[in-house]
Amino acid sequence: MSSPPVFPDGFLWGAATAAHQIEGSPLADGAGPSIWTRFAHTPGMTHNGDTGDVACDHYRRFKSDVALMRELGLKAYRFSISWSRVLPEGRGRINHAGLDFYSRLVDELLENGITPLATLFHWDLPAALDDRGGWLNPDIAHWFADYATTMYRALDGRVPRWVTLNEPWVVTDGGYLHGALAPGHRSRYEAPIASHHLLRAHGAAVQAYRAVGKHEIGLVVNLEPKYPASESADDAAAVKRAHAYMNRQYLDPVFYGSYPQELREIFGDAWPEWPQADFDLIKTKFDFLGINYYTRSVTQATESYPLRAGAVKQALGTYTETGWEVFPQGLTDTLTWVKERYGDIPLYITENGAAFFDPPTADGDRVRDPLRIDYLRKHIGAVKNAIAAGCDIRGYMVWSLLDNLEWSLGYSKRFGIVHVNYGTQQRTPKDSARWYSKVIASNGAALAEPLPY
Ligand code: BGC
Repeated sequence: MSSPPVFPDGFLWGAATAAHQIEGSPLADGAGPSIWTRFAHTPGMTHNGDTGDVACDHYRRFKSDVALMRELGLKAYRFSISWSRVLPEGRGRINHAGLDFYSRLVDELLENGITPLATLFHWDLPAALDDRGGWLNPDIAHWFADYATTMYRALDGRVPRWVTLNEPWVVTDGGYLHGALAPGHRSRYEAPIASHHLLRAHGAAVQAYRAVGKHEIGLVVNLEPKYPASESADDAAAVKRAHAYMNRQYLDPVFYGSYPQELREIFGDAWPEWPQADFDLIKTKFDFLGINYYTRSVTQATESYPLRAGAVKQALGTYTETGWEVFPQGLTDTLTWVKERYGDIPLYITENGAAFFDPPTADGDRVRDPLRIDYLRKHIGAVKNAIAAGCDIRGYMVWSLLDNLEWSLGYSKRFGIVHVNYGTQQRTPKDSARWYSKVIASNGAALAEPLPY
């Protein structure tokens, strides 16, 4: 008797990207600048001064990129929409040429049998809205819902799954607290305000969807399990706070309508109080949760605590080019924790992947990336284990389809399963892409096959 398939029928195997990281041509055809265009053009803000002006030139090459996705057998493609391409000032006037780009992309995907999953906000806030305070201005919830409604009206007939926000934690921690990401602020006071308005914007966009949309809408968060560096009570307390800050800060409000108590201790006098009506909006029911998983952190109580809990490197660990430990068990642990704490909402792995140093080798156009194959194989195995443990996981998206612009780190880190030569824009599927194609074609059975090395 054959055992039942582990990955459910119709499991969405795909790959993910984001507008600023791949599109290029950020000001083409009437688009307005985003905070990332402005940030990257500010001297000293990105590695090597790298900008998204060209990136992977996907704006002009989207048809051949979709052909490549089809060749690889992807069932789904998660992309993001650049808000300021569609609304150059962030609100009001629609730039139809920008909207049309996403319409043509969606058509192309559907014609090639690939399901689109559209993210409304993946960090590239219109610069015109930042000039009005960006995520610190309470009006942004309505600006976002209006923009979202424009997109639903244009594309919901063809896009079955929407994501409101990608990783609100990174937006506030990187953009408003530590300043490594746009808009580059460093303020303990601003971070919780930006978080709250991101959550209100999420709730407002879900409510707007119920009025106009007919399919599904969800939220994407990045989760990183925390393990204590020692058995000391101090480290246990540090883990609890780091976990509340990174993993519960957004999920507790959207599921339960309140912030974790620990955030008050962490932010001290910078922690604001909010009206109950805000939480009624924030906990508007949505249809699925997307989880981005890359690594874990082994946490220690240090002097820099609480907002930068000390992460301890493991002597025997394997680390990626971004310095992240390869820890697949953390993905299973995270998924089972989400189910236990927040219940049975359908889950998607909306990002998982790794940057490794894998230049094209001398033998023709082959790119050998055994470390990435190993990483993906173990993490997809971790998803399989979570499904076996009862988690309702409906899809898995590799980060990323293409090598691309890694935000402030510029083009120095390559996450793609497809290599991009930034001089010629030539795409070369890496060995990991070929391997992933087999996993998709076999609905996961190829995980058990010997590796090509
Ligand atoms: C983001 C991606 C990013 C990736 C790797 C995620 O935080 O959503 O845009 O490239 O991680 O750092």
